[in-house]
Amino acid sequence: MQDRHGHHISYLRVSITDRCNERCAYCMPHELQEWFPRSEILTYEETLRLIRIGVELGVSKVRITGGEPLTRRGVLDLVRELPKIPGLCDVGLSTNGTLLAREVEPHRTMAAALRHASVRSVNISLDTLDRHAYSEITGRDLHAQVLNGIDAAVAAGFDQIKLNTVLMRGRNEDQLIPLIEFAAARNLILRFIEMMPVSTREVLDEENFISISEAKRAIESRYGSLIPQPDFRTNGPAAYYQIPGRQQRIGFIGAMTNLHFCESCNKLRLTCDGKLRPCLGSYL
Ligand code: 5AD
Ligand code: SF4
Repeated sequence: MQDRHGHHISYLRVSITDRCNERCAYCMPHELQEWFPRSEILTYEETLRLIRIGVELGVSKVRITGGEPLTRRGVLDLVRELPKIPGLCDVGLSTNGTLLAREVEPHRTMAAALRHASVRSVNISLDTLDRHAYSEITGRDLHAQVLNGIDAAVAAGFDQIKLNTVLMRGRNEDQLIPLIEFAAARNLILRFIEMMPVSTREVLDEENFISISEAKRAIESRYGSLIPQPDFRTNGPAAYYQIPGRQQRIGFIGAMTNLHFCESCNKLRLTCDGKLRPCLGSYL
């Protein structure tokens, strides 16, 4: 499957809900959120049918997203169906991490249940290690739950865990080094993401925006020149670097300043109300 720009589409991001238990400034409008009525959200049967059709057309990897996907009831029932689809090689999930440590069965966390259901990788949002700043950014005091969620994900033994940090001046610019050390101690891949104009709040003005190149400069002033890893690719347009003298890899997602950002894109998105979108940029 190719789009009209010649991108080979092999990766389908599937949003299963627009709801979330957090209110990140860069994602959700501050005012009371209007959710889709339940009747407009695809049933799991409908979602699975569309994934099967995508796989027939060349999709080999699916990532379950939201809102916060783990807030939707029965998410494990959906995830357990995915390995049964022939040709679907890789299942991932993006989450804010708040519900990963929750016990869903006796002695089994959500993270362990997802792993058991063949989810190979999880991406967890973590913008700061400071509890107060976390509450300010996400609108919820759930930092401890997220840290427990990350521990649960590590314990569950996923093939890959990535931490995603959205860069925000005045909110987490002091967190780059602490987050790198946090990721190093757990052997996780950390990625810094440029803020994109998604929410209706004025998040993208110069007071808030930090570019990838600025973050990279700050990191290099601590660790020395980062070593590019052009051969290391996950699915998507992140550029990865090795920290000198360490095995640790960090990634940068320059959605706003990287002119070649879209060239390496292989994604299609399915919204929770059943619309196909080429990219996050067409979110609004
Ligand atoms: N800009 C950049 N990243 C965003 N995310 C959500 N909204 C935005 C935005 N406006 C990130 C979250 C999460 C991932 C799914 O997308 O932090 O890590
Ligand atoms: Fe929820 Fe993720 Fe949006 Fe934050 S970025 S409000 S955690 S969906």
